[in-house]
Amino acid sequence: MADKQDAIALLKADHRKVEDLFEQFEKTSGEGRKQKIALEICLELTVHAQIEEEIFYPACEGKIEEDLLKEAYVEHDGAKVLIAEIEAGGPDDDFYDAKVLVLSEQIEHHVEEEEKRSSGIFAQAKKAELDMDRIGAELAARKQALMANYKSSGTPKPETTTFTEVTV
Ligand SMILES: [Fe+2]
Ligand SMILES: [Fe+2]
Repeated sequence: MADKQDAIALLKADHRKVEDLFEQFEKTSGEGRKQKIALEICLELTVHAQIEEEIFYPACEGKIEEDLLKEAYVEHDGAKVLIAEIEAGGPDDDFYDAKVLVLSEQIEHHVEEEEKRSSGIFAQAKKAELDMDRIGAELAARKQALMANYKSSGTPKPETTTFTEVTV
């Protein structure tokens, strides 16, 4: 098991890992290799969004700007739609690379909202003095369990949290 990380360090490390995978995807040309990286991105993002929504965001509830938190949930849901598309498709699809690229752009924006200096979600959570060590331990445990589960039985079809009105 990795060293103990506080919540913010753990979530930021996830962000860096996914950014690195997006970069690898861009540089890779073989279809099989591209798909492998894309699926890894989908797995990482699925688990990351899930632990944020199950543990970190609820801990922020009532302690940081409500609008910002709501946007974050909707941004996750937007990403889940593309994740589902990428998981269901393959590199020979006309729009495969475009979907991965647009997902990376959406994630870049979302990560900025979380990490922005002084006004981002993480900065506000720090100011609110959340118990980052305790939350970090919870995130790490849940992440480990989900990763093991999804690696053995496949990533589940993403479920949106805030999209309720239409099915596309
Ligand atoms: Fe995040
Ligand atoms: Fe997030």
